[in-house]
Amino acid sequence: MNRVAVDLGDRSYEVRIGPGLFARAGVEIAPLLRRKRVAIVTDATVAALHLSALTAALEAEGIAVSSLALPPGEATKNWANLAQCTEWLLDQKVERRDVVVALGGGVIGDLVGFSAAILRRGVRFVQLPTTLLAQVDSSVGGKTGINTAQGKNLVGAFHQPSLVLADIDVLTTLPDRDFLSGYGEVVKYGLLGDAVFFDWLERDGPAIRAGDAAARLKAVTRSVEMKAGIVSRDETEEGERALLNLGHTFCHALEKATGYSDRLLHGEGVAIGCALAFELSSRLGLCSQEEPSRVRAHLKAMGMKVDIADIAGDLPGPDALIALMGQDKKVVDGRLRFILARGIGQAFVADDVPGDAVRAVLTDAFRNR
Ligand code: NAD
Ligand code: GLY
Repeated sequence: MNRVAVDLGDRSYEVRIGPGLFARAGVEIAPLLRRKRVAIVTDATVAALHLSALTAALEAEGIAVSSLALPPGEATKNWANLAQCTEWLLDQKVERRDVVVALGGGVIGDLVGFSAAILRRGVRFVQLPTTLLAQVDSSVGGKTGINTAQGKNLVGAFHQPSLVLADIDVLTTLPDRDFLSGYGEVVKYGLLGDAVFFDWLERDGPAIRAGDAAARLKAVTRSVEMKAGIVSRDETEEGERALLNLGHTFCHALEKATGYSDRLLHGEGVAIGCALAFELSSRLGLCSQEEPSRVRAHLKAMGMKVDIADIAGDLPGPDALIALMGQDKKVVDGRLRFILARGIGQAFVADDVPGDAVRAVLTDAFRNR
C-alpha cells in the first residue's frame, strides 16, 4: 500500500492506494470511529458490484453498516439527490462525531462530500473512490458540490475527507470508456507539471489501460502525489490549484453544451480540453506546434476522444461555446481565464487570453468536424 499525505494542519489526511484495500476497509476506518457504525452512500451500479464485499469487511471489524444507493450518472449530482442523501443521513441518526462513507466515482464523492459538509454543519467523511477519475482527482482535495441549471459545480463547499482509500482492484470492473475518461485526468497531471511522468505515460499508457497492476498503482500514486502537493500548498485555489483546471474551461463549456449527458464524460472533456489548451498555447507562441501534436498523438494512441469532432451529435458553434465559458465560475471580472502551457509539464494561469485566439482555435476545431 502506498500512502500520500495531504498536509492541511489539523485537517490533514492520508490517501492510501493499493490492491485489496476494500477488504481491509474495516481495519483502516475503525480508528476514525467514535462508535462502531457508518452510513455508506453509493450509486446503484457500484452497489451491485462492491457494496456487499465492503459491508462484509466493515462488519468483520464489528462496524454496523447502513447504505443508500442513488442512481448512477452525472445527472445525480443535483438538488433533489442532495436533499434525499442528506435527509437519509439524518434518518440514520448520523451525528456530528460519526463518519459518512462515499463509495463510488466522482459523482458520489462530490455529492456525498457536500452532503457531509452541510449535515449538522459538517460531519467527517471517508472517500472510497471506485473510478480512476475519482482515485486520481475528485476524492482528493475537498472540493464537493452539485450541478445546477446554471452550470456545473456551481454550488458546493470545501470539505476535506478524513481518509481516502483507493483500491486499484475495483478498477477492474470499470467499463473501458469510464477508465479512459479517468485517464484524461492522469494525462492532465503530466501535462500540467511533470514532463517525465508524461514520458512514462506515453510508454506505459497501454499497460495501464490493459490492467497492469504495477503500472496502475504507479499512475494513481503519482497523480495523487501531484494533487496532494498542490492542495497542501493552495487548498482554496488562490493560486497554484487553478493549474488543476488545465483543459477545464473548454471542458465545462462542452459538458454544458452536451447537457452533462453520456455524449461526453467529464474526463473525455478534460482530454479534449487539454488538447485545445495546448493548441491555444501554441497559437499564442507560448510553445511549439510539436507540443499539441504530441498531446494529441498520445490521446489518440490510447483510443481516447481528442477532438470536438469526436463528440457525437449537434453542438453549438464557437461563439455559443465561448458564451458558455462565460458562465464558468473561473471567470474573474468578466474575463475568461485559461490554463496555458509553455510546454509539456509547464502549465501556468493566463488571465489575459485574447478572445480572438480562442475563437480561432474553436473555429478550426469545428472545421474539422
Ligand atoms: P461517475 O461517478 O459518474 O462514475 C462513472 C460511472 O462508472 C458511473 O456509471 C458509475 O456507476 C460507474 N462506476 C463507478 N465505479 C465503478 C466500478 N468500480 N466498476 C463499474 N462501474 C463503476 O463519474 P466519474 O468519472 O468518476 O466522476 C465524474 C464527476 O467527478 C463529475 O461530476 C466531475 O465534476 C467530478 N469531479 C470532481 C472533482 C473534484 O475535485 N471534486 C475533480 C474531477 C471531477
Ligand atoms: N479538480 C480540480 C481541483 O480539485 O481543484
